[in-house]
Amino acid sequence: MTGKIVFNKKLSDKYYYMKIESPEFVKNAKPGQFFMLKTQSFDYLVDPLLRRPFGVCDIEEDCFTILYTLVGKGTYLLSNLQTSTEISFSNPLGNGFSIVKNKNVALVGGGVGIAPLLYLSKALKDNNNSITLYYGGKSIGDIHLLEYFENTCDYIKISTEDGSLGEKALITDIITNFDYDIVYTCGPKPMMKNVVSVFQDKVENIEVSLDERMACGLGACLGCIIYVKEGDNIVQKRCCVEGPVFDGNKVVWEL
Ligand SMILES: Cc1cc2nc3c(=O)[nH]c(=O)nc-3n(C[C@H](O)[C@H](O)[C@H](O)COP(=O)(O)OP(=O)(O)OC[C@H]3O[C@@H](n4cnc5c(N)ncnc54)[C@H](O)[C@@H]3O)c2cc1C
Ligand code: FES
Repeated sequence: MTGKIVFNKKLSDKYYYMKIESPEFVKNAKPGQFFMLKTQSFDYLVDPLLRRPFGVCDIEEDCFTILYTLVGKGTYLLSNLQTSTEISFSNPLGNGFSIVKNKNVALVGGGVGIAPLLYLSKALKDNNNSITLYYGGKSIGDIHLLEYFENTCDYIKISTEDGSLGEKALITDIITNFDYDIVYTCGPKPMMKNVVSVFQDKVENIEVSLDERMACGLGACLGCIIYVKEGDNIVQKRCCVEGPVFDGNKVVWEL
């Protein structure tokens, strides 16, 4: 599938926000799904060979967006792509979040993990849920897209580790209300592990979106295996096909 870059904006030191026009992709993409993206537009560039996974951040009419951070070569090449460039990506992949109705929900996002929570918050708002967003980062430069979340969330609570925005704390330390039916989280693994321990036994469902390194995105290479509890057993799951969204209470964070 291909699409055309509408903009590729630098938001802060390491964060970029890209909008891509692709009516075909937008038709099928659900909150929490991801896609494999070719990070360079020139076909003669073979390095990096593999496509990189990114979450659907938002959808507006015929366009979708990605919020991304600079990590290595792929994201650096991505950050250099200009408006109107044609880029190539897969269909929407993975299972996505469940969309509940008439519930009290919490979204907990850390750093770039906030990305898939935006499109999710739109779908949850359309289904009459009350939404509280908890958004944490190391510093103010990690906090983005608040103006979009203000349209969908009923309450927004922010923390940064250096106190440059919101409370000076880890995001899991400022959660004092546990009166939610379902919690959705995406961010660094230690944060998601803490979110699960904070809400364990207090809410029925905790959905975590895992970020494993992926090579094929299609279930063939087994490069993205994670471990989950199934009854008394611990079993392997492919993050790209059976995930990336899993029941937080069942994820085995360390073997
Ligand atoms: C389902 C899914 C959705 C994602 N959504 C987003 C998104 O919306 N926005 C975003 O910015 N990123 C997202 N990511 C992460 C993104 O895929 C990686 O940041 C990207 O592949 C890095 O590519 P690169 O070529 O820049 O870095 P590379 O050259 O591949 O890596 C540079 C260094 O970073 C380490 N590294 C790279 N990727 C990861 C990772 N996933 N976990 C731990 N270490 C890693 C490598 O070991 C290496 O040392 C997502 C990942 C998954 C699996
Ligand atoms: S990335 Fe290949 S099996 Fe998941």
